[in-house]
Amino acid sequence: MTINIQTSITQALQKGFGAVLETPWESIDPVLKKSQNQEHGDFQANGAMGLGKRNGQNPRELAEKVIEHTDFDGLVESSEVAGPGFINIRLTNDAIVMQLEAMSGECLGVTPDAGTHPVAIDLCGVNVAKQLHVGHLRATIIGDTLARLFERLGRKVYRENHLGDWGLPIAMVLERLISSGVDLDLLSLHDLNIAYKDSQLEARDDFSGVRAAENLQSGPHRFAELEEQNTGALESQTKAKAVLNALQRGDESLHLQWEKLIDCTMRSVFASMDLLHVKIGPEHSRGESFYRDLLGSVVQEFKDSNLAVEDNGAMVVRFKNRERPMLIQKSDGGYLYATTDLAAMKFRTQTLCADTVIYVVDARQRDHFKDLFDAAKLIGWDKTPDGEPIEFVHIPFGSVLGEDKKPLKTRSGSSVTLQSLLEEAIEKGTAEVIKRAEDPKSPTHTMSKEELATIGRQIGIGAIKYADLSSDLVRDYVFDMDRMVAFEGNTGPYIQYASARISSLLRKGGGVTGVAPFILQEPQERLLALQLLQYNNVLHDTVKHLEPHRLCTWLFELTETFSSFYQSCPVLKNEDPKIVSSRLRLADVTGRIIMDGLQVLGIEAPEQM
Ligand code: ARG
Repeated sequence: MTINIQTSITQALQKGFGAVLETPWESIDPVLKKSQNQEHGDFQANGAMGLGKRNGQNPRELAEKVIEHTDFDGLVESSEVAGPGFINIRLTNDAIVMQLEAMSGECLGVTPDAGTHPVAIDLCGVNVAKQLHVGHLRATIIGDTLARLFERLGRKVYRENHLGDWGLPIAMVLERLISSGVDLDLLSLHDLNIAYKDSQLEARDDFSGVRAAENLQSGPHRFAELEEQNTGALESQTKAKAVLNALQRGDESLHLQWEKLIDCTMRSVFASMDLLHVKIGPEHSRGESFYRDLLGSVVQEFKDSNLAVEDNGAMVVRFKNRERPMLIQKSDGGYLYATTDLAAMKFRTQTLCADTVIYVVDARQRDHFKDLFDAAKLIGWDKTPDGEPIEFVHIPFGSVLGEDKKPLKTRSGSSVTLQSLLEEAIEKGTAEVIKRAEDPKSPTHTMSKEELATIGRQIGIGAIKYADLSSDLVRDYVFDMDRMVAFEGNTGPYIQYASARISSLLRKGGGVTGVAPFILQEPQERLLALQLLQYNNVLHDTVKHLEPHRLCTWLFELTETFSSFYQSCPVLKNEDPKIVSSRLRLADVTGRIIMDGLQVLGIEAPEQM
């Protein structure tokens, strides 16, 4: 187990401050940061300012005393007070080399997360009979990356694709397909889409259910759900309801037809998931239908605990701090999206025993998840069966916007399908790779068309994923394909390119010899080494905040640090073989960390580009 250098220095300073201020050291924050200017040292601690003020001491004098009372255990070459009370710290070369040596092994110094229970991540959430659109793209990419991150830190993860595969909208499509005589064995997603649209068009408005939701002040998402459910010409709705009833009663032949409809959608969904290099398959798909037999008992459980009460014939859960109740059963006895989510929550916390339940679902469902989490707390599903407190998190990601700052649409005004978006990205990536391969000096010059196409796909998909993950999740972002696919700037291809160049450097240098010692003479070598030492912290920090952009930003900085190292410290041209070996090792650790980081982000790293 590697102890991080920054952690050791922080702890030494905490104890120093504790001794001088005569207070328990554990809660003291010495505010240790990487130095902005290497001439001042490697780290700077700024805690003396705030702590001095709070304890009525001159910060400079406090800082001086702290240095006297701090035992850095041989890690530090010099520590000095500067300005109003900054503590500048320079590490010894030996300390850095020792740490680097310890982290250069296979696991790259990554320590496991402390959590002992599984993590459940609700991601993707497609709806049967509908095309995947860009909103599902985000729920898929972000969810898969968080899953990879937890897995990298040793946690067991359940990827939960809570697909919309049950309820009236599906029954409407099914009814439509059956009555128009479509052969369900030859069903294509295109047929499904048409049936879906037709079933919606056929509908005339019947707003009784919507009005009920209005009276209950339901949130926007629930309102939309009811609107959809209650919209419909009486005739088609009656037929669809009959189909739903038969399905719910377990009618076998109808059930088989329903399965065909699901299969057709999921074949295309899984093809997109594969293309996206995302780990979501049939084994991760527990859709709404999975919970259908549990809904009655969930409502009963809330009734038995007096948490659900009747309101105009419907069952609702009320909360102390707001008017909006959570509707869990309609007056006609039907269940809702929220009821299914309660059943899923019980399953995840009480059966799967997850102590962290994360929902990667767009911001419009904020109210829904607030209600869900509060209801789960009321009924006691905020502890696992073995008593572990559970954390519920909704990641309310923002929308993907077009250049006009409005939700992304095609030129004809329809919403953009995921498939068309991915195809365009792959086309752009491939064009770029082919252009570069024309240069006789390029390592890809001799490659076949197929090989170039594979790299083009990895770049195009990597570009989309990186652009999505590197922005602040809750903010909307403007989709700009050209910028995403660029080889310069904070983009996926830029980082992939850096990784490919390091691989090629290592090939040219004949690989690394594990025994050659690290030599850190030049400032750029030292800077690179110090940054490499942060990797473990960055992963833990990213998982703690559930913000993949932290890892993206850091990987981008690492590639930049590596480039300036590479510019000022020639690797293969150096005359001293010891230095060549040391620099090759630095390149090797950098390359492996970039690849590992990209893998956590779900982005492939081509060997050559
Ligand atoms: N199918 C839903 C939609 O498209 C998303 C599902 C999100 N997950 C959940 N447990 N509610 O709106």
